[in-house]
Amino acid sequence: MHLKINGFEMAFTSQGEGKPLLFVHGFPLNRQLWRPQVEALSRVAHVIAPDLRGHGESQAVPGEHSLELFAEDLNALLDALHVKERVVLCGLSMGGYIAFEFYRRYTTRVDALVLTATRATADTKEGRAAREQMAALVRQEGIASIVEGMTTRLLSPNTIQTHKSLVDSVRQMMNEVSIEGVLGDLWAMKNRPDSTPTLRTITVPTLILHGEEDQIVPQEEARRMAQLIPQAQFIRIPQAGHLPNLEQPEAFNRALQDFIQSLP
Ligand code: MLT
Repeated sequence: MHLKINGFEMAFTSQGEGKPLLFVHGFPLNRQLWRPQVEALSRVAHVIAPDLRGHGESQAVPGEHSLELFAEDLNALLDALHVKERVVLCGLSMGGYIAFEFYRRYTTRVDALVLTATRATADTKEGRAAREQMAALVRQEGIASIVEGMTTRLLSPNTIQTHKSLVDSVRQMMNEVSIEGVLGDLWAMKNRPDSTPTLRTITVPTLILHGEEDQIVPQEEARRMAQLIPQAQFIRIPQAGHLPNLEQPEAFNRALQDFIQSLP
């Protein structure tokens, strides 16, 4: 489905009925990331999964992006879909950074948080320099120049060896992103604030899911978040890297379903 919101054409999946679950993908992917969750959870809930601006089938918008802008896009999508009920907001990695921003801005719209493969801290000086290098590479040589490197960082070595179709679909998602989308994400992530002070202010139930072999966000960062968020539960997903929802969909969906059922 497509809708014009916030001045661009946004593509999204909206499937099922019941409790709204809003899924926000990470960098540099798109809503296909959530395919196993859309399939399983749209039987019991209203699953909403957008392509962020510049990703997948959503229109690319040149210029600087920010977490605020992404959060506004999500809020506008919920308005356009007339979602009145509070949502379970599930963000993976950059989607988690956006979830913190969404929570700060639209607290009353959030019923629960699911934070996957993400961190609260801002980029270090080295991290910001690496974003600039990646942006320069993409400007000079295009998206293809980052696909192989990202694939080996996103997935666990076991997934890469044993799950060729999944590896191909992750590569395909990356090949579908626009240059504007990648540059916009890198800018937004590089300039994002430290969300650590937000953690103690989170008053909704929170599930933190983290792949045991995540090479991008160390597990300790996720465990620290779980200690600081008052009502947080931490679940480690074995044999998964940075995309546990795709690499171990059964374990991931089971944890998510149990969490949703436990909500008041
Ligand atoms: C993501 O998966 O969204 C990004 O790799 C996160 C990051 O680079 O900080």
